Amino acid sequence: MYDIVITGGAGYIGSHTALLLLDKGYNVHIIDSLINGFYESIRSIQNIHKNKKLENKLFFYKCDLRNKELLRKVLKSIQKNGSNNIDALIHFAGLKSVNQSINEPIKYWNNNVLGSVNLFEIMSEFNCENIIFSSSATVYGDNNFRKIKESDELRPINPYGFTKLAVENCLNNIFHSPLNNWGVIVLRYFNPAGAHPSGLIGENYKGKPSNLFPFICQVAEGTLEKITVFGNDWETLDGTCVRDYIHIMDLAEGHLSAIEYLLKNEKQFLTINLGTSEGVSVLNFIYQFQETNNVRIRYEFGDRREGDSAFSVADSSKALKILGWRAKRTLSDICKDGWKRQKMIAKL
Ligand code: NAD
Ligand code: WQD
Repeated sequence: MYDIVITGGAGYIGSHTALLLLDKGYNVHIIDSLINGFYESIRSIQNIHKNKKLENKLFFYKCDLRNKELLRKVLKSIQKNGSNNIDALIHFAGLKSVNQSINEPIKYWNNNVLGSVNLFEIMSEFNCENIIFSSSATVYGDNNFRKIKESDELRPINPYGFTKLAVENCLNNIFHSPLNNWGVIVLRYFNPAGAHPSGLIGENYKGKPSNLFPFICQVAEGTLEKITVFGNDWETLDGTCVRDYIHIMDLAEGHLSAIEYLLKNEKQFLTINLGTSEGVSVLNFIYQFQETNNVRIRYEFGDRREGDSAFSVADSSKALKILGWRAKRTLSDICKDGWKRQKMIAKL
């Protein structure tokens, strides 16, 4: 039985990936400081998993990656609880708010970069040399309305993006060192949205959401009155920004494919976009949500948001070619599953 460590597994993407890996028979060891994650998510995963009566197990370790001593102890416990070998690690843990990173860059460099470097150091001590890293489309520069390829220019425009690129570069250096034997897959996500179809896990937030989809959900539910669409004078078909929204379970499956690839193939350094390759405007998204769920979303047009770009859509052909993965779910699935989750949260 393979043992997979997931840092940041109490968060949005990590919790969905953990559930999928458990379903596929992996032992899953989650490390999370809970700074933005929720123990509730771990309990939900445990409950869903328990009902399936599989033999593999889920373990949780509360630890901040910047605490090296504790991290060392955690990896020792993981070896003891698992099959004495850590087969691979998926590194989700990090802070992800673009706005917060502009106001608090030191916090972002400290958490995202220092935390990652500590992790890599301790991984080395334990001969854990297979890693998948959560990077972001934010590392790319302006794309001139073309779908973005992995080989496109990297030119982040905010501290969050710079920390992601710094960690990518650090992993690249580690991979190229003759003294190491690491396998690295960097996954650059576009815009994850939606929830597990059961609605039992989804995106939880501390505070008011800033991303489009959770905002739409809260307007639909009535927690928020209306959504401001940031600009209707962009150079797009309907004047609103275009993004590549990917269902969270498609994203989780992308990680499963990456793990399988990493465990079966010779050590490599790979960078892969995870997106749908389909562009959706803000207005398209609002209309689709209304149609799928038969609810009304109040919106108004406001000014452009600083730092936004008109168009950000993945060219995901490399993921298909190398990992055999492609996103299967529709925008309507995102709306349906996310809304189900939102209604469940409202009942809690
Ligand atoms: P999230 O905030 O829901 O989850 C991140 C988890 O990491 C949280 O549970 C948090 O408590 C934990 N964490 C943060 N710093 C930690 C530390 N120093 N030590 C231990 N745990 C720590 O975010 P998410 O949406 O699940 O994103 C996961 C990863 O994917 C992040 O690295 C993010 O940058 C990246 N990413 C996210 C998106 C997105 O839109 N959600 C897009 C591209 C990339
Ligand atoms: C989507 C679109 C907004 C809110 C961010 C990060 C990126 C990645 C994913 C981590 C944009 C518009 C939004 C609102 C709106 N995260 N919008 N009104 O900015 O594409 O990407 O999340 O890596 O790094 O930058 O996502 O959901 O904030 O915005 O009109 O109230 O919705 O202008 O066009 P974004 P988003």
